[in-house]
Amino acid sequence: MERFFCSNCKRFYSLQPARWKCDCGSFLDLEFEPEFPIQNILKRNPTLWRYREAIPIHHDGSILSMNEGFTPLEEIEFNGNRILLKVDYLFPTGSYKDRGATVLISKMKEWGVQKVVEDSSGNAGSAIAAYCAKAGVKCEIYVPQFTSPGKLIQIQAYGATLKKVEGSRERTAEKAVEAASKIPYASHCWNPFFLHGTKTFAFEVWEQMGWKAPDTLVLPIGHGTLFLGAYIGFKELKEAGRIKKIPKLVGVQSTACAPLYQAFKKGWREPRRILKKETMAEGIAIAEPVRGRQILEVVGGTGGEILAVTETEIRVAQREMGRKGHFIEPTSAATVAGLKKYLRAKGRKEAIVSTLTGTGLKSAGKML
Ligand SMILES: Cc1ncc(COP(=O)(O)O)c(C=O)c1O
Ligand SMILES: [Zn+2]
Repeated sequence: MERFFCSNCKRFYSLQPARWKCDCGSFLDLEFEPEFPIQNILKRNPTLWRYREAIPIHHDGSILSMNEGFTPLEEIEFNGNRILLKVDYLFPTGSYKDRGATVLISKMKEWGVQKVVEDSSGNAGSAIAAYCAKAGVKCEIYVPQFTSPGKLIQIQAYGATLKKVEGSRERTAEKAVEAASKIPYASHCWNPFFLHGTKTFAFEVWEQMGWKAPDTLVLPIGHGTLFLGAYIGFKELKEAGRIKKIPKLVGVQSTACAPLYQAFKKGWREPRRILKKETMAEGIAIAEPVRGRQILEVVGGTGGEILAVTETEIRVAQREMGRKGHFIEPTSAATVAGLKKYLRAKGRKEAIVSTLTGTGLKSAGKML
């Protein structure tokens, strides 16, 4: 039986669509026991739903899928280092957010929800809107008005109601939270079902590496939904006895907005208020990460670290990836810049996996 639980005050709650946080104000996690029957997995299509017994949806009939996932794990060389990159911009909506959206909106459908609200810097909103379109569920997506036009158009193309909010990304979140008093909140950062979708990143890497875990993961952190999802996935594999060790988790932020980098450097348990500057990496420009404390625990617990990259480093990384045949958005290039920084630090001998999270096409207008 699955339950929500709060790691802050240790309370449990039964599952229901209207609950998106604990009464103490903290985020909730999901208690769930996955299984990994390899013979079943191997018989299924190459989508993220091949790990069916590890995804918390009860009825197959609730599943909303566009055959997403099982993205290529491509080997690329950076300064003599061989790195494996998950090509996650190949998802149906152009970013890894579909991992979370396919599971969260399937759950919403299973709950019989008719309408949801979400806030986003663009990609999560696009993903939620697409799966809602497939589900026949109405949705309202709140975004900052400075979001890349490609993402705004995409959200509307799926038939969602787009709510552009003046001011910061944080103001956008406030508006969505107000709406969430009446409409179920399909929040990628608050709702743990989203993380139980992004965790499939770990399962795919495990299978694609021959049922082994890498030593290190280098992943972006805004709200950390891929970062935490990957951690949950590898933790579940370890608890099921399928891998020996959870990889070291290295997070990447933009120097212009780096609350978790600051907290990591100073040894704080929680991120504190920061002065946020403008960055090309709109997807990770999150000044108040909902699960900040949890992210710092994962970094500490896996012997990882958090790096920050400058606008110039992001631009250089984006151009370099273009020359390697990958057109990615600046947010995605920030991770590559972080990966390069990580490789520069010491002679790295470990097996490293990173990711290309979002296509460059949606942000082309802004880049022009
Ligand atoms: C392309 C891309 N990469 C990475 C991220 C970071 O995701 P998160 O905020 O969950 O850490 C985002 C978030 O919007 C994104 O759009
Ligand atoms: Zn609580």
